[in-house]
Amino acid sequence: MTLMLYYYKTSANLRLVPPPSLTQIRSHFRAMSAVNYLPPFAALLNAESLEIQPNTGGYVKYIRELDRIYADEEKFQQLLESRGGDIAYRVNELRFTERGNDLITGISVLNPGKVGSEFFMTRGHLHQRADRSETYYCLSGHGILLMEDLEGKVEAAEMRPGSLVYVPPFWVHRSVNIGSEIFATLFSYPADAGQNFEIVRKARGFKLLVVNDEHKGWKLVPNPRYAVRARAEIEGYSLAG
Ligand SMILES: [Fe+2]
Repeated sequence: MTLMLYYYKTSANLRLVPPPSLTQIRSHFRAMSAVNYLPPFAALLNAESLEIQPNTGGYVKYIRELDRIYADEEKFQQLLESRGGDIAYRVNELRFTERGNDLITGISVLNPGKVGSEFFMTRGHLHQRADRSETYYCLSGHGILLMEDLEGKVEAAEMRPGSLVYVPPFWVHRSVNIGSEIFATLFSYPADAGQNFEIVRKARGFKLLVVNDEHKGWKLVPNPRYAVRARAEIEGYSLAG
């Protein structure tokens, strides 16, 4: 099979040629994967739609699907009634295989808003293979990458366009939009990492909440519902590499 390269060289610089259809890409990669070989691939990052083009899929998460992630359940119920069908965040990505020697790269777009004083955020997860790391690069907006290690130590990395954050192995992570516009990030992580949402549900969130602050814009406050992880649970995740 011929190697497909989607760049051509002009006198001035490298430009993208129109890429093939997704169906062509998939059948090509299926054929190639039989011999454990993937050809190079180039795509466009559309700065207006905030999508990778072409991409291999993604998902949309609606506000109604995020119950029990916010501390103020009464405020969440009110939001559910008025805006439950609105999109909270969406992801589109390039996911060719789920092999450990491959990468998934995608864009996450998180809408602005608050539930009580708590900013809109993603559900958050630990990687199912907990020793897998990830990088996030801020494309637009103003947000926080909230990270928590298995012992409950929290780090909040403030992100603006151009910020790059590295999430180490064994850190639970979520995005929080502390701005008034969408918060968009480009991420990349090993394709066999998987996502474990149960760890966040079990702990009833992260140890700290990101809430509005009149003076500084945002601050971290203790999560009153937080359940500290037992030693046996921590050891279970540590072995999940
Ligand atoms: Fe992740």
